[in-house]
Amino acid sequence: MRDMTASNLRSAYGGESMAHMRYLAWADKAEQDGFPNVARLFRAISFSEQLHATNHFLAMKDVKGGFNVTAGGGFGVGGTLEQLKGAIEGETFEVNEMYPVYIEAAKLQDEKAALRSMTWAVAAEKVHAALYDKSRQAVEAGKDVALGAVYVCERCGYTAEGGAPDRCPVCGSPRERFKPFA
Ligand code: FE2
Ligand code: FE2
Ligand code: FE2
Repeated sequence: MRDMTASNLRSAYGGESMAHMRYLAWADKAEQDGFPNVARLFRAISFSEQLHATNHFLAMKDVKGGFNVTAGGGFGVGGTLEQLKGAIEGETFEVNEMYPVYIEAAKLQDEKAALRSMTWAVAAEKVHAALYDKSRQAVEAGKDVALGAVYVCERCGYTAEGGAPDRCPVCGSPRERFKPFA
C-alpha cells in the first residue's frame, strides 16, 4: 500500500477505534440519565464503528510494524444532550471532511482495498449522523427518542432503523447478516 493512503487509513482506524469506545461510555451515561433508546443507539453505532476499524485494519494487513497514529476523537463525559452533540460533530466531520479527502487520495493512488473500506464506512456515518440528530431533537424536548430496532450489517457496518433490508445497500450482504439492537 502506498505510504499516504496507509497513513490516512491508520488515522481512520484510530478514529473509528476511539469512536467505538467513546460511544460505549456515552451509552452507559445515557442509560444513567434515563434515555434507554439513546443508550441503545450508542451501542448499535459503537458496533458499526468497531466493524469500520476492523475493515480498515484488515485492508492494511500487509503493512506491518509499529506506527504512531494521529487521529481525531472527542473526549469527556457530560449530559446525554452534550454527548449527542459531540457524536453529531464527529460523524459530520467524517462525512464532510475526513473520508472525502482520504477517499480521493486512495483513488489517486489506486488503492482498492482502502477505497472499499472507507467507502463502506462513510455510507454508514451519514446514517449515524441522522439518527443522532433525531435523538438530539427528542432529548432537547426532554424525551427519550422514539427508536425502532436498529440493525447493523456485520460485514460493512451499514446501519438501518426499523427493519433490515433484504440486501445491504452498501455491501450486498443478505438480511441474515444484520445484527439487531432491539
Ligand atoms: Fe465509522
Ligand atoms: Fe459513525
Ligand atoms: Fe453491508
